[in-house]
Amino acid sequence: VVSVKQALAGGTTAAEHEVTVRGWVRTLRESKGGLSFVNVSDGSCFAPIQVVATGDLANYETDVKRLSAGAGLIVTGKLVPSQGKGQAYEIQATKVEVTGFVENPLTYPIQPKQHSMEFLREVAHLRPRTNLFGAVTRVRHTMMMAIHRLLTEQGFFWINTPIITTSDAEGAGDMFRLSTLDLANLPRDDKGGIDWRKDFFGREAFLTVSGQLNVEAYALSMSKVYTFGPTFRAENSNTTRHLAEFWMVEPEVAFADLNDMADLAELFLKGIFKAVLDERADDMAFFAERVQPDAISRLEAFIDKPFERIQYTEAVEILQKSGKKFEHPVAWGVDLQTEHERFLAEEHIGRPVVVMNYPEEIKAFYMRLNDDCKTVAAMDVLAPGIGEIIGGAQREERLDYLDRRMDQFGLDKEVYNWYRDLRRYGTVPHAGFGLGFERLLVYVCGLANIRDAIPYPRAAGSAEF
Ligand code: 4AD
Ligand code: MG
Repeated sequence: VVSVKQALAGGTTAAEHEVTVRGWVRTLRESKGGLSFVNVSDGSCFAPIQVVATGDLANYETDVKRLSAGAGLIVTGKLVPSQGKGQAYEIQATKVEVTGFVENPLTYPIQPKQHSMEFLREVAHLRPRTNLFGAVTRVRHTMMMAIHRLLTEQGFFWINTPIITTSDAEGAGDMFRLSTLDLANLPRDDKGGIDWRKDFFGREAFLTVSGQLNVEAYALSMSKVYTFGPTFRAENSNTTRHLAEFWMVEPEVAFADLNDMADLAELFLKGIFKAVLDERADDMAFFAERVQPDAISRLEAFIDKPFERIQYTEAVEILQKSGKKFEHPVAWGVDLQTEHERFLAEEHIGRPVVVMNYPEEIKAFYMRLNDDCKTVAAMDVLAPGIGEIIGGAQREERLDYLDRRMDQFGLDKEVYNWYRDLRRYGTVPHAGFGLGFERLLVYVCGLANIRDAIPYPRAAGSAEF
């Protein structure tokens, strides 16, 4: 038994030998006189392999002629160089075993045509059978593995931070609260009423918005660490770039500053893009042909050039001088909106750009106050077509400054005492960032909607399956 990928590469030994492949019918064509060409895919690579089945097969009339797109089968036959264009090998079947026909081919949701993305979201359990979602799935895997490999090569340790948490890592109040279904034992307040807030064994708990605070504790002993897992945001934003559940990779480094983080982000993004180009050339060729014409060239250009870095203050000037009518007017002190981020990345620079040192009022409480006392050492990496893909900062390592910022944001210091300890016991400068994994995948594949970058999207208005 070989995978379709191995078969297309000539199997494991010389051609003209017997192989077995297992997979699903992608497309098929029957010519007159008892001859069928069946394209079989098993997900191992973009291309299916062509299986030639003739009337000599014992079950040709009963099974092969009944095949349709989506049917599951096991094919044994001779692997031979193919006459057809675009494929090196094909299989001349000596045995076709059908494991499952498609009940009613006319109503099978995945027809051999281009479906709308909206429709495919409604059949999220069947969409991995399409060319597009097969390609997205393989690229997603390659990027995840590249992330672990690149960070490991740089000496980072992977820390598994919790999903259930009591503190709001961003201080922005976008958390989902946990509750129990144990109706008999719901927590009661003094008056015997149900205390919904204390539903996690008598405490209030949430799904994490970021593993940053937890991973900081490990950076302050292991030096270079990262967390990589699902994170949750209760922003009720029905946009093409927000999910309620998304994956985030967050490196955190002791004795590092903001420039070190911009360097790391550059090395990191270039390494991920290079892995995709090297390992998924077949899928990227598909994206370039069908989804985003410059899908490959823009990654190559990004790898070749140094990162563009601008100050927030400069970014505001560029936007003001652009003469463009923005929906949200720009002035120093306002947070950059998607339209501004996209203008900077798409029209001004033409590729991803990092913006640094934002006004302190618009950024999270843990970010380090700069000497100007007006800005914090924050950075965002902005990508064409999507806007922010990375958010990061140098952390406030001085307890008195951190306390002042927590007061300013109205945060309860009791809840963050453990985090404040890190500043009490051997504090050191440190910095990190968070990369929204699905946003990067949207950029790499040229997708229009982040709901197509994760197998089962959870977002306002879509959480079935
Ligand atoms: O900018 P954010 O909120 O930063 C943090 O969470 C920091 N704690 C990261 C750190 O410094 N360790 O989120 C980081 C990234 C964003 O740049 C964006 O790419 C992604 O996470 N992101 C989302 N992706 C999909 N859906 C959402 N609702 C997202 N919110 C943030
Ligand atoms: Mg951000």
